[in-house]
Amino acid sequence: MALLFYLFIILCCADHHVTLKDEEGIPLIAKYFNTKGRYEEVNPNLRQDILAVNRTILEPPFLECQEIHLTAIIRHGTRYPNAKDVRKMQQLHDIILNNSTGKQSWLREILTQWTMWYTEDMDGRLVQKGVQDLKHLAVRLAKLFPSMISEEKLRGGLIKFITSSKHRCVNSTLSFKAGLTEMWAIKDVEFGHEVNDTLMRFFNHCTRYVQEVDQNQSAVTEVQKFKQGLEMMRVQEKIAQHLGVSSSLLTYDLAEAAFFLCTYEFAVKAINSPWCQLFDEDDAKVMEYASDLREFWKRGYGHDINSKSSCILFHDLFSRLDKAVSETKLCQKVSEPVTVQIGHADTLLPLLTLLGFFKDTVPLTSNNYASQTQRSFRTSHMLPYAANFLLVLYDCGEGDIRLQPVLNEKPLTFPGVTDPQASVPLYENVRKRYQDLLNGCDFETECQLLKDPAEV
Ligand SMILES: *[C@@H]1O[C@H](CO)[C@@H](O)[C@H](O)[C@H]1NC(C)=O
Ligand SMILES: *[C@@H]1O[C@H](CO)[C@@H](O)[C@H](O)[C@H]1NC(C)=O
Ligand SMILES: *[C@@H]1O[C@H](CO)[C@@H](O)[C@H](O)[C@H]1NC(C)=O
Ligand SMILES: *[C@@H]1O[C@H](CO)[C@@H](O)[C@H](O)[C@H]1NC(C)=O
Ligand SMILES: *[C@@H]1O[C@H](CO)[C@@H](O)[C@H](O)[C@H]1NC(C)=O
Ligand SMILES: *[C@@H]1O[C@H](CO)[C@@H](O)[C@H](O)[C@H]1NC(C)=O
Repeated sequence: MALLFYLFIILCCADHHVTLKDEEGIPLIAKYFNTKGRYEEVNPNLRQDILAVNRTILEPPFLECQEIHLTAIIRHGTRYPNAKDVRKMQQLHDIILNNSTGKQSWLREILTQWTMWYTEDMDGRLVQKGVQDLKHLAVRLAKLFPSMISEEKLRGGLIKFITSSKHRCVNSTLSFKAGLTEMWAIKDVEFGHEVNDTLMRFFNHCTRYVQEVDQNQSAVTEVQKFKQGLEMMRVQEKIAQHLGVSSSLLTYDLAEAAFFLCTYEFAVKAINSPWCQLFDEDDAKVMEYASDLREFWKRGYGHDINSKSSCILFHDLFSRLDKAVSETKLCQKVSEPVTVQIGHADTLLPLLTLLGFFKDTVPLTSNNYASQTQRSFRTSHMLPYAANFLLVLYDCGEGDIRLQPVLNEKPLTFPGVTDPQASVPLYENVRKRYQDLLNGCDFETECQLLKDPAEV
């Protein structure tokens, strides 16, 4: 009898998408994980129901508005650490095993029970949780935009998939598609995708960006300074003390490795690991800032070329929007109603920056940590795994066409666009705002190396 009862519980609940996650299983510092954070921390209602959507916050301004085009630019799902970070984690673990004298129970747990299971060959691959991230996102987007992400459109070849060539992105694309086909029980057809690195990994193809920023230590001096500054020193000393190792052993890289161990154990395995005990909330905020500083100088507002490297994606986006608008004005069917593009945090951040989102009045530097606590440039909020930027085009009748920007299923407002309907402005007002970029922002021009003045 009891067995039958349990069987019943298992059967009925396995089918349910409700996973009641114990809040105690979530590290207190999980909201400071930057680009290694869980999507659920950005949308906490998903902790109870991973398929929950809130349509009311994305409603178009007028009843008669119809969606006519949707572009979704999506980051891959949860992944393993890359080989470089695995080596650092390994090094930290060795040092603790060999040198640690601390007595706390969580440290005992690291010393006696925790095994270093990350290996270099995992090299950034998508994990099972990452597959689920994309499947669930696909289902939620279909619920949010039922006329766009629909079985009919998918079967009709009207949902176009474009991905970066990286395995984690290709797998994310496959997972997104599987989310849809499993939901609609489609077994008779397969849906293709295009690989396009020119579009989704533009940062590697922009020569000027590569030379001036990506391979240039001087481009990130603020990051180096912060890592050697007072705030970080204090964090490193605290960690060394907790571990009972000499503070001279605990470099920034090792502090970061400890932070990564906490983030990965949570993102990949959903556990609040003993590594998280090394950081209190203040420490985590300092770690978060170091990472935001890096993103700011490497992909964000720090250097103009960072955002300009995404010109190709910007024009690709607007040319599709323009096409959808002109087809609509001619009373034709929109020929490319849905585009799903899968890339990286490094794909999304330059584009968001080019469009002017999350720009603070003062740049992030090594010496303004304290005054930046309320900054809007916060990768923990912007770019968790499976982060997604949507542009939804609406036809509201009589030539009234509007564009809604959405980040991680929440509305954004285009900075500098003046429109009474701030979150769903007229498309022509958006175009006006970005006029200079629309008429310029030429990838070839922006990305060519400036001539060495000595040679001119
Ligand atoms: C959805 O969003 C609206 C507006 O922000 C809010 O009032 C409502 O409580 C939300 N519903 C759910 C289920 O979260
Ligand atoms: C440190 O630890 C590693 C891994 O446990 C071990 O291989 C190595 O021999 C140790 N080194 C020293 C000096 O004890
Ligand atoms: C810590 O361990 C390393 C080996 O991993 C060893 O070379 C070093 O001398 C030890 N340092 C201290 C302070 O015990
Ligand atoms: C990702 O795709 C590769 C094949 O390209 C496959 O071998 C691997 O199992 C996939 N991983 C996941 C997590 O789906
Ligand atoms: C990739 O996208 C760009 C921009 O839309 C386009 O010009 C190019 O032809 C595409 N490349 C491939 C291989 O499809
Ligand atoms: C490296 O970055 C610094 C600071 O932005 C800049 O002045 C310098 O020109 C860059 N070097 C190269 C080779 O682009």
